[in-house]
Amino acid sequence: MTRYRLLEHAPGAPGLRWFGLGPDLRPTRGLLKLQRLLRKHAFWAQDRNQYQLKRMLAGSTVVVSLWRGKRLVGFGRATSDGIHRAVLWDVVVAGDLQGRGLGRRVVEALLSASAIRKAERVYLMTTNSAGFYQQLGFDIADHQQLLVRRQ
Ligand SMILES: CC(C)(COP(=O)(O)OP(=O)(O)OC[C@H]1O[C@@H](n2cnc3c(N)ncnc32)[C@H](O)[C@@H]1OP(=O)(O)O)[C@@H](O)C(=O)NCCC(=O)NCCS
Repeated sequence: MTRYRLLEHAPGAPGLRWFGLGPDLRPTRGLLKLQRLLRKHAFWAQDRNQYQLKRMLAGSTVVVSLWRGKRLVGFGRATSDGIHRAVLWDVVVAGDLQGRGLGRRVVEALLSASAIRKAERVYLMTTNSAGFYQQLGFDIADHQQLLVRRQ
């Protein structure tokens, strides 16, 4: 039977960020694996370098990673003020393992983290996976507009 391990990292994911730690706190070059996972399966995050990923993790309230042995197969993160607003970011599952309930596990872990549970509203942006998030209790916000300022 395939065993998957879901890790809920400490805020800012210091072990993953500094030492590439994976399951059982073992060094597994996790940052490089994260870079490759995003490059291959997250079209919006293909060009992130390791310095940027470190900054990204440091600025994340909740970080979840999903492992099959030493392979990083899923990832998701969230930011939250702990009371009013939280946002999910960068939810991704390796292409060959999609459609097996792993994405659901990642999102449910993010949503059950205390800083996200306590937020009055949880937001996310998606290009092509609205149906996935609707199954997890999200609604399309017809009454709001998404605005972007590109730096
Ligand atoms: C979107 C993604 C995270 C979903 O993960 P996954 O492991 O494939 O999804 P799951 O197997 O947990 O799916 C849960 C349910 O959502 C449905 N679903 C999955 N992807 C979907 C999509 N893009 N649109 C509509 N429904 C979807 C599944 O059919 C499943 O329904 P079921 O329970 O009735 O069978 C994954 O496909 C992925 O990484 N895609 C590429 C990156 C991406 O686009 N991420 C979204 C960023 S906002």
